[in-house]
Amino acid sequence: MNYKNEYMDSTESPETFWLKKSSDLAWFTNPPAACSKSDNGYYEWFKGGSLNTSYLALDHHVKEGRGDKTALIYDSPVTGVTQHLSYSELLSEVATFAGALTRLKVGKGDRVIIYMPMIPQAAIAMLACARVGAIHSVVFGGFAANELAVRIDDATPKLIVTASCGIEGKKLLPYKPLVDEAIAQAEHKPTGCVIFQRPQHEAKLEAGYDHDWQYLMSTSQPVDATPVDATDPLYVLYTSGTTGKPKGVVRDNGGHAVALHYSMDAIYGISQDDVFWAASDVGWVVGHSYIVYGPLIKGATTVMYEGKPVGTPDAGAFWRMVETHKINVLFAAPTAFRAIRKEDPEAAFIEQYDISSLRTLFMAGERLDPPTYYWASEKVGVPVIDHWWQTETGWPICSNPMGIEPMKTKPGSSSVPTPGFNVKVLQSGGEEQVKGQKGAIAIQLPLPPGCLMTIWQDHERFVDGYLREFEGYYSTGDNGYIDDDGFVFIMGRTDDVINVAGHRLSTGEMEEVLAAHPAIAECSVIGIHDPLKGQMPVGLVLLKDGVSIEESELEKELISRVRETIGPVACFKRAIVVNRLPKTRSGKILRKLLRQIAANEDVSVPSTIDDPASVSEITTLMREKGLVSDNASNV
Ligand code: COA
Ligand code: AMP
Repeated sequence: MNYKNEYMDSTESPETFWLKKSSDLAWFTNPPAACSKSDNGYYEWFKGGSLNTSYLALDHHVKEGRGDKTALIYDSPVTGVTQHLSYSELLSEVATFAGALTRLKVGKGDRVIIYMPMIPQAAIAMLACARVGAIHSVVFGGFAANELAVRIDDATPKLIVTASCGIEGKKLLPYKPLVDEAIAQAEHKPTGCVIFQRPQHEAKLEAGYDHDWQYLMSTSQPVDATPVDATDPLYVLYTSGTTGKPKGVVRDNGGHAVALHYSMDAIYGISQDDVFWAASDVGWVVGHSYIVYGPLIKGATTVMYEGKPVGTPDAGAFWRMVETHKINVLFAAPTAFRAIRKEDPEAAFIEQYDISSLRTLFMAGERLDPPTYYWASEKVGVPVIDHWWQTETGWPICSNPMGIEPMKTKPGSSSVPTPGFNVKVLQSGGEEQVKGQKGAIAIQLPLPPGCLMTIWQDHERFVDGYLREFEGYYSTGDNGYIDDDGFVFIMGRTDDVINVAGHRLSTGEMEEVLAAHPAIAECSVIGIHDPLKGQMPVGLVLLKDGVSIEESELEKELISRVRETIGPVACFKRAIVVNRLPKTRSGKILRKLLRQIAANEDVSVPSTIDDPASVSEITTLMREKGLVSDNASNV
């Protein structure tokens, strides 16, 4: 195959291109057309086609005679358990849990929140929801009760599915108290809660409200897959925006299945004989697309890893996994590799394992910084592919298309647009930027199948947040440039979203937490460079007149407030007191300017600034406090 032709076909004849790709799937009713306009004026894919995502991921393979093939490998260094589930076994578990959901009166269109650690039951719950046509919303375990409550109120789930505990390295985290607290905080009350009891910690169940997973499974009958329309939602996944309220990205069934199936071939070059490991978490989009749905729809073997790249037990964990499970393709976040490199700079652990099964290493979640790229390429000895995507798109916007035509990598670039994504760099007025010059990255509409349909219960927010800035385009919120060879370089966000250890976080949300502290008059949270996690949040806070509090005491209180309100995943560990914050005459804090100071970039001081002297004052303070990165680390 040739990338240029494939890409041209996808952009010039999207209808023919995507209908052809859709014919690779086992639909109940084939879609009559690929792309059409929905009632809200936006695009939708494969309307009128009927399918079931769990059927595609499980029943189809069993029917084709691949029931004995391993579908899912669970490897948990934190509990010492390894488990293999064949396609037949996984189907049986999913169909039975779907039967349990039906008994609990969960059906088509109902929402179910899944708050689970990285255990097979998380994938089983997701696939069971898909089987009965319910819409799942998985919430990452590192979020606090308050974040779960916000999602409960937005998604209004009928049921919550959880486990008795998560295990984070050496820490055991009971989930039930957190879920109970979230339900107590939320206005919406789910009708019940299903709890998977883990042997490491037993949760106390409330009779009549809490249901024991194992009991439900032993008393429920398997059910068949319910046909749904291609445009029916499969899931809602919340992601950070610029405000405190997370955005519920809505994914359809049909477009999602077609896109993921295509991506397994075109991007990852995966066959049904391969073992594919995405070292992420089911709480993130990578986990949805490439731990659960993509590899299973393809009929390959997927891996669920309940551990960390380091510390469970050491920096050789990834290589042990590759050897033990004969992993062919590994997908991880650059921060994981920086963590491994920090502990094992010479990659001595690699020597202890046979990693010859590994063909390709994909990286995403943040930009793959060239030092990490070079280290991984040299030490691992396989092609290292940076690819760029977002929760909203659900699959890579740009990648080296390893299954179409592998290309020579350019360090710092996520290579070329994936077929279907018409990527442009735009100037602020909407004109196309010249090659090599930075601008806002936008994607010409319609987006290909698999991308978000809307924001849950808030189509206006979808239109305002993504479609208004540039007419006829989806704004990605990232900036960067395209070089003369058509390679795309993503340089960072244009908004107040930061990326900490491959996790996308909203500084606006942290600001809301800080601003609620009685001592604080005003504040700004910015991301500063961190050699391990990429970025770390830092709060710049201005005290109310007359308030006197030790800076270290205040910092401690703020850290604990962010941890309790948003969760440990926010990694909020620093706050400094400032005398003033640079603002416009209308009183808006100049966050971009603060970001530029922290990144040690040329500072663009707007003419609307209220107090120009505040810039040098804050620059000096940030330097003194070690918050300004040396440019060398930003390469
Ligand atoms: N449940 C509960 N708590 C969690 C959690 C989860 N699922 N995930 C993370 N946390 C907690 C951590 O225990 C830590 O708590 P602490 O402050 O008490 O130590 C905190 O959240 C921050 O976690 P993290 O940023 O992950 O730091 P870490 O030091 O534990 O690990 C890395 C650092 C780099 C090893 C780890 O972040 C990593 O592997 N990142 C890859 C991320 C990824 O896969 N992203 C998906 C995109 S592909
Ligand atoms: P998330 O929605 O959590 O997947 O985060 C998406 C954001 O992470 C993107 O908008 C980018 O800012 C960043 N990102 C993800 N992958 C890459 C990449 N390969 N290169 C640069 N930035 C990336």
